[in-house]
Amino acid sequence: MVKAIRVHELGGPEVLKWEDVEIGEPGDGEIRAATMPFTPGMEAVGEVIAVGPGLTGRKVGDLVGYADNPMGSYAEEQILPANKVVPLPPSIDPIVAASIILKGMTAQFLLRRCFKVEPGHTILVHAAAGGVGALLCQWANALGATVIGTVSTKEKAVQAKDDGCHHVITYKEEDFVSRVNEITSGKGVDVVYDSVGKDTFQGSLACLKIRGYMVSFGQSSGTPDPVPLSALAPKSLFLTRPSLMQYTTNRDELLETAGEVFANVASGVLRARVNHTYPLSQAAQAHADLESRKTSGSIVLLP
Ligand SMILES: NC(=O)c1ccc[n+]([C@@H]2O[C@H](COP(=O)([O-])OP(=O)(O)OC[C@H]3O[C@@H](n4cnc5c(N)ncnc54)[C@H](OP(=O)(O)O)[C@@H]3O)[C@@H](O)[C@H]2O)c1
Repeated sequence: MVKAIRVHELGGPEVLKWEDVEIGEPGDGEIRAATMPFTPGMEAVGEVIAVGPGLTGRKVGDLVGYADNPMGSYAEEQILPANKVVPLPPSIDPIVAASIILKGMTAQFLLRRCFKVEPGHTILVHAAAGGVGALLCQWANALGATVIGTVSTKEKAVQAKDDGCHHVITYKEEDFVSRVNEITSGKGVDVVYDSVGKDTFQGSLACLKIRGYMVSFGQSSGTPDPVPLSALAPKSLFLTRPSLMQYTTNRDELLETAGEVFANVASGVLRARVNHTYPLSQAAQAHADLESRKTSGSIVLLP
């Protein structure tokens, strides 16, 4: 019997209950579906305490991390398919790893594979002070790109500058399309990384250069309105809606993606902001504080 956060009904943070649960023994490639009650969470770091029969390559005592299905990481213990976890190098603090694994792997596939950022490129990153946005700016700057970021407030603009943005647009005060046009002398950017969605999508297309790349990877403000294919024609634009899962479809891709993230943390290119830790039992409070915008940076839940 272990303790886990359990959800018996849908609702706000108050539905996250700290309870005893029976996890069971690891079997062959088993996963559990998320029925009610379920244990939320799809990202964690921890120590291997038991392995299934015949498993090679992982042993008790290994430090590992994962960011994917199956759900259930809000627990003291969890059974995971061994091929979903990646080993943590000794150089990385497990709390930093827990805070960065999903966002870092997202930044890796977006910058290195979805569109390959190279020195000389000019890129636009929306929500540049958000979790993924901050890492995109840090990493793209290190890759030699000129980074333009959009943020909502002056405080976030300071952070985005700190994270390597060469130009920061405070979009509530300035029209980001006109500013990008000015900054690029009318040429437009090579790529837009747009996680905001509905509010920014059309403007993002307008910021692209001829044959530019529109990477729409999230929708914090809502799903973008449908775009007719003909809207891409005047500049022969590329448009993609990528997901991390399709960029870590096999073991080699997963290990390479996570490995690059950890290497960039070790070299100081990627800097995590773990501003809050809560006991796992207080996950409901952590969610409530997150929702009411009392927190900044990453929150890590400690079992
Ligand atoms: N495709 C993938 O594989 C993948 C992987 C990971 C994450 N994502 C997506 O990427 C997005 C960003 O994730 P994140 O972890 O970086 O999130 P985050 O830290 O919460 O940042 C989101 C930012 O979006 C901006 N924003 C603009 N309009 C907003 C609105 N109406 N409501 C809330 N925020 C709004 C805010 O920045 P300002 O205040 O500066 O506007 C906010 O800080 C999410 O949509 C997530 O689902 C996609």
